[in-house]
Amino acid sequence: MCGIVGIVGRHPVSQRLLDALKRLEYRGYDSAGVATISGGTLERCRAQGKLVNLEMRLKEQPLNGFIGIGHTRWATHGAPTERNAHPHIIDGIAVVHNGIIENFAELKAELEETGADFETSTDSEVVAHLLAKYRRDGMSGQEAMHEMLKRLRGAFSLAILFQDDPSTIMAARNGPPLVIGHGDGEMFLGSDPITLAPLTNEVTYLVDGDWAVVGKTDIRIFDSEGNAVTRPRCTSTASADRVTKGDYDHFMEKEIHEQPEVIARALARYVDIAGHRVAPLSTGMDFANVSSLVISACGTAYLAGLIGKYWFERYARLSVEIDVASEFRYRDIPLSPHAAALFISQSGETADTLASLRYCKGHGLKVGAVVNTSESTIAREADVIFPILAGPEIGVASTKAFTCQLAVLAALAVGAGRARGTITEEEERQLVMSLAEMPRIMTQVLRNIQPKIQLLSRELSEFPHVLYLGRGTSFPLAMEGALKLKEISYIHAEGYAAGELKHGPIALVDEKVPVIIIAPHDRFFEKTVSNMQEVAARGGLVILITDERGAASSKLETMHTIVLPNLEEIVAPIIFSLPLQLLAYHVAVFKGTDVDQPRNLAKSVTVE
Ligand code: F6R
Repeated sequence: MCGIVGIVGRHPVSQRLLDALKRLEYRGYDSAGVATISGGTLERCRAQGKLVNLEMRLKEQPLNGFIGIGHTRWATHGAPTERNAHPHIIDGIAVVHNGIIENFAELKAELEETGADFETSTDSEVVAHLLAKYRRDGMSGQEAMHEMLKRLRGAFSLAILFQDDPSTIMAARNGPPLVIGHGDGEMFLGSDPITLAPLTNEVTYLVDGDWAVVGKTDIRIFDSEGNAVTRPRCTSTASADRVTKGDYDHFMEKEIHEQPEVIARALARYVDIAGHRVAPLSTGMDFANVSSLVISACGTAYLAGLIGKYWFERYARLSVEIDVASEFRYRDIPLSPHAAALFISQSGETADTLASLRYCKGHGLKVGAVVNTSESTIAREADVIFPILAGPEIGVASTKAFTCQLAVLAALAVGAGRARGTITEEEERQLVMSLAEMPRIMTQVLRNIQPKIQLLSRELSEFPHVLYLGRGTSFPLAMEGALKLKEISYIHAEGYAAGELKHGPIALVDEKVPVIIIAPHDRFFEKTVSNMQEVAARGGLVILITDERGAASSKLETMHTIVLPNLEEIVAPIIFSLPLQLLAYHVAVFKGTDVDQPRNLAKSVTVE
């Protein structure tokens, strides 16, 4: 989604704003722009498309000035054109905005009646016009800011420059995060601490409803009533150093290969590997005494939650209500205050997931956050944080965060099982031993399956449709495999429960549709093989992903068979994620798509 940067500096800011925008690229965007104040005048440069376009424009037409704001725009209202790119400038006021102004149509109509002439089709431009109107009415910048914020409805963060005040940036937050960075005689603004990491690690988070006047050496923060408030200054652990591709061609490729290492780190936190126990640390939630569990999340994080549901039900005998957060938040679900809730989010900023968390908190549930970003809003609002420790994930398609979410959920489910007495000490020992073997097995799998996956990917890249099937935890995994393929290669892909095949999807099967069947040799294997036969009987192209036992017992001819080592049931979905991720990655590479920043997608979805 959109990203915001700002610098009130001692040195020229244009290049630094551009560098900071580059650190926001991972969030997804389709145009970008910067504005500075130089010699008492606002200067602006904008470009459609990627930041290289803006960079080229800035070379032709450099911007001067020691104060400036910048923006990467992910279009919501209005096409991703240069004209719609931020900053919007009206009467010496420059505005960048992240989020959605829900009442913009009403405000626009009102402003047009008083003579405002709108240049763009964005919702954001109303902010600049409202401020300009209040200034014309005689208000100071600060007064105009306060009045303007009272009129906005929706989720937004804002950074604003007033041409007649070249030493201040105004900022506001109501939803999407905004961080103020403290420098040495300089101040910074950013959508997240990673943006600011090379500039400073000393940050202050604005909370919802806050607005701020940011000078070179001081900040003044106000709440929505206009009362001065203090927000703590803290040291962020975000680091920009780690955010490089290293020897890899894409962040996604690097993140796939980082999984053995990051899973080991996550496991070290949640399980006592030597003692073969779940670590007591992970019992921050009293699973022994909860009546049921509620899980909500979006996209890949939701699919991790769906696999978690199988584990919590099986090992802890806890019934789990799970839904995508965009539905969950509006379903008016009757909730027991004796239930516990888990919200899963890589970014920790997903608007629907945050709203669902607040809904559960409002109903008195104890709320846990399974997050990658421990400084995120979801983490800060939860009662208990379960960090997944995946490290920064830059590729828009989630890979290592997904498997780390699974590793954490698996450990929590086993811990819950012990706390509830639904698994024995010996069962816990076996399960923890299986989890502990994952980093080694992952390394081996990543090394061994690459050549085969590359071969298969080249063939698959020629097909317009692909089906994925699985049973048990392989069903959410089938959906995750399909999601990964469609989002980065733009091939239409669907994941189904294999048992649903005959209830509809089989109508799609013919010799032009590859069907990827995820079938570890588990208690569902025979049934999945029957579904595979149904596909083969209709000329469908079967691609079987199985383990050694499965490969030995399946006699069916396949287009390709990918064979993984034999695995315990609890780790199978985590290890089976690897071929699915690699497949999507290599197909996208063959198709020449933008792997790390696929079209129309954003890494951090801060609006609903
Ligand atoms: C897909 C993907 C998305 C995210 C979803 C939730 O590869 O990454 O589906 O999983 O947007 O994002 P977070 O986890 O940040 O809440």
